[in-house]
Amino acid sequence: MSEVVVVKLGGTTLAEQRQVLAEVAAVARKRPVVLVHGGGKRMTEWLERLGVPTRFEGGLRVTDPAALEVAAAVLRGVVNSELVAALRDVGCDAVGLSGVDGGLLIGQRIPDVGLVATVTGVRRDLLDSLLVSGQVPVVAPLARDEEGVVCNVNADDAAAGIAAGLGARQLVLMTDVDGVRDAAGNRLDSITPEEAEALIADGTISGGMVPKVRAALVALAWEGAEAIIADAAAPDALARALGDPSFGTRVSTRTHAGAA
Ligand SMILES: Nc1ncnc2c1ncn2[C@@H]1O[C@H](COP(=O)(O)OP(=O)(O)OP(=O)(O)O)[C@@H](O)[C@H]1O
Ligand SMILES: [Mg+2]
Repeated sequence: MSEVVVVKLGGTTLAEQRQVLAEVAAVARKRPVVLVHGGGKRMTEWLERLGVPTRFEGGLRVTDPAALEVAAAVLRGVVNSELVAALRDVGCDAVGLSGVDGGLLIGQRIPDVGLVATVTGVRRDLLDSLLVSGQVPVVAPLARDEEGVVCNVNADDAAAGIAAGLGARQLVLMTDVDGVRDAAGNRLDSITPEEAEALIADGTISGGMVPKVRAALVALAWEGAEAIIADAAAPDALARALGDPSFGTRVSTRTHAGAA
């Protein structure tokens, strides 16, 4: 397993992400980091502005060709460029790419949601060559499917595919809530894969948290790997997500996840 950490940021505004980006830059000075971003809120804004209707199914945005054009433009054009620029502002050698660039992500279409794919393959050598030279890949969640069709990928899924493909020890899924909550609304320090499936089955975990928790489970394919779901807006969010077991929710095969 490698020391690589894969960090996924949700699709909030850049202003809300400056602090966590500074943390990404700090971690990247010590460990290889891959940043994957979403763009949910920004995409909704642009889809509305352009009058393209969309809906969600099981936390995934149903994507027709018109919505895909907007997704590609917003994710790769607007959000990715903004994040790369902001990281470069804080001295981080960030390189933007989408899952289409260099054939980074291979996808398989998910039935009934249009041009949406799940990650089935990662071109690891491309990321390794960037990481070895001290660069921070910033990945927009798009992929080509087996037929060469460009698809939208849920960003949690893209991050998990990359984490599994690299054998990353830690996957941090930054979001807008403090972690996974139980039916009473209390944050859980840690959950096992079995507990996660039970919470999805009984509806306690719903909406965008479903693909997130499933992504966490994918990243656990490697023995000893852990995935952490945490609030990006909290002070020292990334440092605490990586090293403080009382912060966020750890998904791991161990019942008592130790500090990193
Ligand atoms: N059991 C649960 N615990 C915590 N949050 C939950 C739960 N069930 C559903 N949610 C919802 O999941 C949301 C997080 O997923 P969401 O997809 O909205 O954000 P994101 O993945 O961080 O951003 P983006 O999709 O733009 O990348 C929370 O804001 C909350 O409303
Ligand atoms: Mg989401």
